[in-house]
Amino acid sequence: MERARWASRTVFVLAAVGSAVGLGNVWRFPYLAGKYGGGVFLVPYLLALFVVGVPVLMMEFAIGQKMQQGAIGSFTKLHPSWGGLGVLALLSSFIIVCYYAVVMAWSLIYFWASFGVPWAQDPQDYFFTHVLQITESVDTIGGINWPICLSLLIVWVLIYFCVWRGVRSVGKVVWLTVPMPVFLLVILLIRAITLPGFLDGWAFYLTPVWSALLDAEVWIAAFSQIFFTLTLGFGVMVAYASHKESRDDVAKDTWVTALINSGISLFAGFVVFGILGYMATSTHTQVAELAASGPGLAFVVFPEALSLMPVPWFFSAVFFLTLLLLGIDSAFSVVEAVTITILDTTQRWTSNTLSLLICGSACLAGVIFTTRAGLYFLDIVDHFVTNYNLIIVGILQAILAGWLYGAEKLRRYINEVSDWRVGRWWNRAIQWSVPVVLATLLVNQFWNELQEPYEGYPAWALMIGWGMVLLPCLVFFTLLCTSRGRIRARGEDASPRTSPGRR
Ligand code: TRP
Repeated sequence: MERARWASRTVFVLAAVGSAVGLGNVWRFPYLAGKYGGGVFLVPYLLALFVVGVPVLMMEFAIGQKMQQGAIGSFTKLHPSWGGLGVLALLSSFIIVCYYAVVMAWSLIYFWASFGVPWAQDPQDYFFTHVLQITESVDTIGGINWPICLSLLIVWVLIYFCVWRGVRSVGKVVWLTVPMPVFLLVILLIRAITLPGFLDGWAFYLTPVWSALLDAEVWIAAFSQIFFTLTLGFGVMVAYASHKESRDDVAKDTWVTALINSGISLFAGFVVFGILGYMATSTHTQVAELAASGPGLAFVVFPEALSLMPVPWFFSAVFFLTLLLLGIDSAFSVVEAVTITILDTTQRWTSNTLSLLICGSACLAGVIFTTRAGLYFLDIVDHFVTNYNLIIVGILQAILAGWLYGAEKLRRYINEVSDWRVGRWWNRAIQWSVPVVLATLLVNQFWNELQEPYEGYPAWALMIGWGMVLLPCLVFFTLLCTSRGRIRARGEDASPRTSPGRR
């Protein structure tokens, strides 16, 4: 069967940008910037973008486009026994999309509630007691929270309709879901700069606290944010690129995608901090205090800021619609990537049925995050999967493409098809910087984990997190070993005396 193609290169870039730009840009990036020294966070962030982000994105695009298959097929073509790396990447993305959709479900609830702004009295209480109905610790599961569960179901139905006709429907949906949230952000920015105090927020956002650079945690946060925000190590970009023609440009698309994505993050920072500046002025607090609220930023501090504005319902609705639209194309990119990759290996199902199966199972798996202890599970799983799985996939990918296949071979391919030439720095980035930097982060993170258990959660709960790391890795190693064995056996069958690894 002829491989489905993106309608144009613009559509491909839109889809890739859609996958990259998500809650990570509007909620995660500003809260990290707030937590890690304001403007100074941009230093490790931009460094991570150029040292790791762009080279790895280019590598993923090149692999998918050259091999014309999803992650498993493409990695097998790079080295016959490494298909399992695709499984590891896709399992990790599947886990992420399960809880990511739950955050979208909260956004949907807030969007719905916006018209009455019910959080105006006590936003903290509204989020934790009213919406999440959170239990006092992870030890009490507290049963399923039905409104969230229902909202999750709606989110998944929406996601399903975006992907039900594969690349073709994605190609249409992204024309709406990518520009629209950016437009909505512009509305919010205009609102922010017409309110008193926004400059205080910007001052906080742009003033570097240089001492933060001495903290290893800042660096870890910056590098894992780059992986998360560019959707690297998920097998998504490989799958998306596999639907381009194999002679299409790689380098330009990479730069465009990476720069638009980080541009939107920086831009969202202005929106978020502008509004926080206004809130700080009107409630006589410090911006730093508001910004350091961590993950609660989008659902506690921000709603409060919105409720202080004139016409609060309108701006609240705009904000939560933005979150939903931002999230949806990141979420469906994962469904699409898994579908594409499975379809490459078996034709047993149509892409329609497969997408339905994936959406259905992710929705079911996500139910655990809709329990009253769901936020704790979400926090734990997010911590482990983003800090370990993605980094591990990143290292293994770099070894596979940089060393086993050969960075130079891939670079020559990129230069054959691209207008903008890529220099030898890229080989060094893939072979050295990426694995070395990522391995350092991994070791450091692991060391921290040993020093103190993450957020003081009980051991049984952390075991779930470790399970999410170890099980996919185990699958990878098993596949690696068995396919090695199989290749060797085949080699010996064909010609008993040649060395097996070479064939
Ligand atoms: N890039 C997305 C963002 O910035 C996050 C993301 C990466 C994601 N991989 C994902 C979301 C997989 C859902 C599923 O928000």
